[in-house]
This record gives sequence, structure tokens and C-alpha cells, in this order.
Amino acid sequence: MRISVIGCGYLGAVHAVCMAKLGHDVVGIDIDERKIEALHAGRAVFYEPGLPELLREVLGTGRLKFSSSMSDAKGAQLHFLCVGTPQQEGKYATDMRYVDEAFASLLDSLEPGNVVVGKSTVPVGTAARLADALAERSPDTVLAWNPEFLREGFAVKDTLSPDRFIYGVPDGEPGAWATAALDEVYASALALGTRRLIADYATAELVKVAANSFLATKISFINAMAEVCDVAGADVTVLAEALGMDDRIGRRYLNAGIGFGGGCLPKDIRAFIARADELGAHQALTFLREVDDINVRRRVRVVELTRTLVGGSLLGQRITVLGAAFKPDSDDVRDSPALSIAAQLHLNGAEVTVTDPRATLAAQVRFPELTYEPNLETAMLRADALLLLTEWREYQALTPEFAAGLVRRRNILDGRNVLDLHRWRLAGWNFRAIGRPYDSASTDGRAAPKWVAGKPGK
Ligand code: UDX
Repeated sequence: MRISVIGCGYLGAVHAVCMAKLGHDVVGIDIDERKIEALHAGRAVFYEPGLPELLREVLGTGRLKFSSSMSDAKGAQLHFLCVGTPQQEGKYATDMRYVDEAFASLLDSLEPGNVVVGKSTVPVGTAARLADALAERSPDTVLAWNPEFLREGFAVKDTLSPDRFIYGVPDGEPGAWATAALDEVYASALALGTRRLIADYATAELVKVAANSFLATKISFINAMAEVCDVAGADVTVLAEALGMDDRIGRRYLNAGIGFGGGCLPKDIRAFIARADELGAHQALTFLREVDDINVRRRVRVVELTRTLVGGSLLGQRITVLGAAFKPDSDDVRDSPALSIAAQLHLNGAEVTVTDPRATLAAQVRFPELTYEPNLETAMLRADALLLLTEWREYQALTPEFAAGLVRRRNILDGRNVLDLHRWRLAGWNFRAIGRPYDSASTDGRAAPKWVAGKPGK
């Protein structure tokens, strides 16, 4: 099929490349010329494993083009709206500027029979509003809402073989026609048995924000348990293992630590609270405020724990922060808990050096006041404390013996609960973690208790 993808950020660039991989003729459109030039030259403007290789492969087939002119959308049968929906400055609600502008300028390129497919995460009610505008300007076209659930770091896999498709379509003939068009686009995944659910616009829009709210709630739930574990002397990693053995609960998204960040979860729950309030469901989502509070509280807790770790004052302490990205396998630092903690430590007088395999450049733009060192060993030299805040594989593979040869003092805080606490303590490290017992005696060389589950499963 001939497809246009409007907006070539994270979602759009990956979608355009994957649609071309599936055999469709795709034009990716973005107003940012720099982005278009880079993509055209086979370079993604963000780090996503597997994407650059796939981008170059499909560019070579001639099925993928990029343009900064909306008029190049003309001729496509399906138009995917993939522009960003950030949080409004100083408010919880979504900034709809990019969706509205992209939609308005697309109208001139539409032809009878076209399907406009929204993929951006929007406040419920947006699709109905856009469908009305479409009916007025281009009566022989139809709107569908088809939310995207891709995770950064797995974006290519999640787009090519998602676990479900949701089509929000209107009733009757136009709905059947939009459904048939989407079925044709996703034919290969559907043939392999990917589930597909047809819904009305509002339900399709809600699926996305409800899913992200549930994930955020699960993470904040286990982080709240970590707070209780801290005061009760219990171990949240063993608790999570045990909870996860119940199939009704499941182990995923129960990793306690410094909490969630990124371009989606934090802003999506806030936008959802704002929208429910606007619609009159004032109390329905008050629990999401608590989910947000628990998450933000993690960051404060880590600053306090670090202060204790280095002996009571952060002033002049050399702290090395391992990780700037909001999660591993990403160079995305949007609302990154790791960077936010690094910045707070700096404000409290610590000398903070941040290292990350991919994200130091992006981090530097956001927090130029911090010191960045991409080389891990150099970053750890003469540190008074190490803080593991993003669980990149190379940080998980660090050994206490190797690290001891670089640092000034053997203090470490594992903000993601990925290191073997007993091994580090036995090697003489003052080791702190979130929601795990602090046992000063174990630094005297006592063996780990036999019943301990060991390294938590992911
Ligand atoms: C998320 C959703 O997973 C995805 O479906 C949606 O399309 C976009 O938002 P993403 O932002 O890529 O994807 O990140 P995700 O892997 O879900 O992680 C979000 C944050 O939660 C990260 O900061 C991660 O470190 C944190 N997290 C995740 C935890 O703290 N504990 C966990 O157990 C899982």
C-alpha cells in the first residue's frame, strides 16, 4: 500500500521504516529538515537497537522516502499521524499543537478514499473531534485511531510483531472500510495470529493511556512496598519474586528502584488525570496522583540515601552516577530519574560525574552544569560513591574487585536492584539498595544467608 507517516520522531521514524520493511511504499514527513536529512542519509536521530540497519536496508529498496513537505503525502492511501503530544508547560494536560497543526495541513493533501490513522497518544475525545473536521472538509475519507504500544529499546520488534492491534473506527460502512485498509497494512502480523480488537474511537484512545497508567501503577506499587521494606527490614526483591509467582499478578514491571521516567509514562498519567477531570470524572484517577508522588519520592530518597552513604554531608563529595538515560538501550533522557537525581546531588554541593554508554550528549543539553565522562573507568576514578541508576549491561557486569581498584572509597548505591548485594558487601563495600535490608554486620565478611533468592529475575 502507499502510506504516508506524518511526524518522524521516535514513533514515526520507527513506524515508517517498519512499514517499508513490510513491503509498503512509504513517505515519512516531518517539518524538521535536520531530521529528514539525517533519515534520508540513513541515520536515525536517536539510538534504537536495530533501527539504523533496517533503515539502510529499506532505503536501498527504494520503498522509503522522506520529505519536509506535506504535499508529498498526496497519493498515499493511508496517512499515519505520529506527531508528539508533550505535556503542556506548567500543566498536566497535553499540548495538542502538533497534532492539530499536522492534521490541518494534511487536509489539503487528502483524496477521496483515503484513511487517516491516528497513532499519537491523545486525550480521549480527540479522534471524535478530528473525525468531525474530516467529515466537513473531506467527506469521502475516514479516520481510524490505532494506538501504538512500542517500548524504546524494543521499538522495531514491537512494531513488526506487536502483541495486539487496536482499531478505533466509526460504525457502519466507513468503519468496515478503515478496518479493511488497516488489515491490509498489517496483513503479515495478522497472518501470524496477532490479536486484533475493533473498538469505538474513545475506547481505542483510552486503551493506550489505561495501559500506561496500569504499568506506572505496578511500578509505583512495588516502590511503595520498597518503602515499607526499608522500615521493616525486609527485602523487596524477594517480595517481588514471590508476588510474581502468582500468575494473576505476574513478575513484569515489579522491579523496585528509582522509578519510571521517559517520554511516555510520566506525562501520560498526568494527561490522563487532567482529561478525566475535564470530563467530570473528578475522583476516578486520584490514585494516579499518588502513583506519581511515589515515583517522584524515589528520587528524593536516593539523594538522602547517598548523603548517608558518604557519611552525612554531600558537600565536596565526588559522586559518580552510572547511567543518564531513563532506561538501558536508549539515549532518551526525557524525565530521566537518573539525571534528575544527579542534578539534585549537584545542587546539594556534591561533585557529580555522570557516565552513560549512549546518553551523555543528550544529558549535557539538559543539564550542562553536570560533568560528563563517557568512559566508565575514567568516570569511576577517585569516586567517594558510585550510584548505579540505569541498569545498562556493562554496569550490571561490574565486579566489586575491579571497581575497588578505581574508586577512592568503597561506597555504592544500587538504584535498580541489579547487583549481587552479598558479593559486594563481602568484598568490603558499603552497599545500599532500595527496599533491601541494610546490614552493617555483613561488611565484616559474614556469608550471605542460604535462603536468599539471589539476583532478582527481570
Ligand atoms: C512505555 C510502555 O511500556 C509502552 O508500551 C508505551 O508505548 C510507551 O511507554 P517506554 O517509555 O519505552 O514504554 O518504557 P518502559 O520500558 O515501559 O519503562 C518505563 C520506565 O519504567 C523506565 O524508566 C524503567 O526504568 C521503569 N521501570 C520499568 C521500572 O522502574 N521498573 C519496572 O519494573 C519496569
